[in-house]
Amino acid sequence: MSIGLLCEYFEADEMGIKLTADSMNLDVKYIPFRKISIKLGENALRVKSKEFDHTEQLKEIRVVLNRAQSKNRRLIAASFLEAIDKPSINPLNVEFTCFSKFRTLLKLFKNGIKVPKTLFIPCDVLEVTSDRRMIHNEEYIADLIMQELSDDAIIIKPDAGTHGRDIRLAKNREELINILSETTPSLVNPLGVLAQSFIQKWFYDLRIVVFKEKGKPPYCCPKAMARAGFRDFRTNTALGNFVFDVDLPQYIQDLASKCGSVIAGNADVWFVALDAMIDFSNMPEILSESNHIETELNRLETLFEEFKRVKRDPLKKKNFVEWNKRLETAFKNYKSSEAYNNVRAVINESVEKGKSSILFHEANACPEFWEQTRLATGYNPAEFLLACAKSLL
Ligand SMILES: Nc1ncnc2c1ncn2[C@@H]1O[C@H](COP(=O)(O)OP(=O)(O)O)[C@@H](O)[C@H]1O
Ligand SMILES: [Mg+2]
Repeated sequence: MSIGLLCEYFEADEMGIKLTADSMNLDVKYIPFRKISIKLGENALRVKSKEFDHTEQLKEIRVVLNRAQSKNRRLIAASFLEAIDKPSINPLNVEFTCFSKFRTLLKLFKNGIKVPKTLFIPCDVLEVTSDRRMIHNEEYIADLIMQELSDDAIIIKPDAGTHGRDIRLAKNREELINILSETTPSLVNPLGVLAQSFIQKWFYDLRIVVFKEKGKPPYCCPKAMARAGFRDFRTNTALGNFVFDVDLPQYIQDLASKCGSVIAGNADVWFVALDAMIDFSNMPEILSESNHIETELNRLETLFEEFKRVKRDPLKKKNFVEWNKRLETAFKNYKSSEAYNNVRAVINESVEKGKSSILFHEANACPEFWEQTRLATGYNPAEFLLACAKSLL
């Protein structure tokens, strides 16, 4: 029996999973999730492309890694896999929760995990009545947000967004009204408004990998990745931010494992990457180090740019193994520099000091990991994912 790898395209993560599976002697079979049809009818479910019937091949597959990149497609894939009784990582309930930031936060909050103060307002900013009149709700919604969050700075984000896209920061009522007036229903924000207190996370947030193999307790990777930079309040790696390795205090590891369990419910096997921020607003002594850190980050620019240049190199598609070696070398050069180690030390010290002020804000069911998390932490999440799958073989 083999492991299925379902995706639209083979990107670095999927190629990395394949490479890792080869090194673990695991048989991984590709399941295309693009130009195929899933047919239900005539007492059967069939999966076909124009050239090939994948239905029989699916029978040989014991468990599927659902790596569809679009959240909506991933949800459909998970629903389909559940319908054919094929275990998937992640299972449908996990995808369903992670799809929505608000659903995720509700679960965490209800189970006593600290999350940023968050508001969901089901009303759309611009409403069109049946007789085609426009109702502008910007001001009402802005006032409601300011009344309920009473913070200096407020974040507006799409409920199902990714990569920091369309996340906006408002520092006053006027800015908030402007941002709201540009908030329209979309695939990643089907309705309403999601608002959150701005967390003084200093210059970084944390990406923490947690997972559970069948028959074992949840496991939190003891190293996290800090995503860091002063240029933008959004610290996503997709926006070019620096990355560092962080030794997670046991307290955070335990909390992260709990977050995973809360999100996964009674699923036997799951794998998620959590996003978390430490609220440093009550620790001015830490925030006062910013100038020094900015200087160190400037010193790191050249080495990190070189790493990013390799990351973009089209060699990735032609010769993944060779490209990967070059990527690892570029990262090693960056990581072994003095400035990296200086910043790393400061982040680690601040995580230890601020650990009890950690807030979890998102769970990613299909995180990117090959190009950053793996290199920063030194742990290969593909091994974790495959161990999860193997536990179901
Ligand atoms: N409430 C907040 N306070 C401060 N920064 C935030 C807040 N919410 C998000 N961010 C920043 O924006 C980034 C992206 O937000 P996130 O909620 O993780 O959405 P995405 O799915 O786009 O990654 C975070 O990694 C963090 O750096
Ligand atoms: Mg995120």
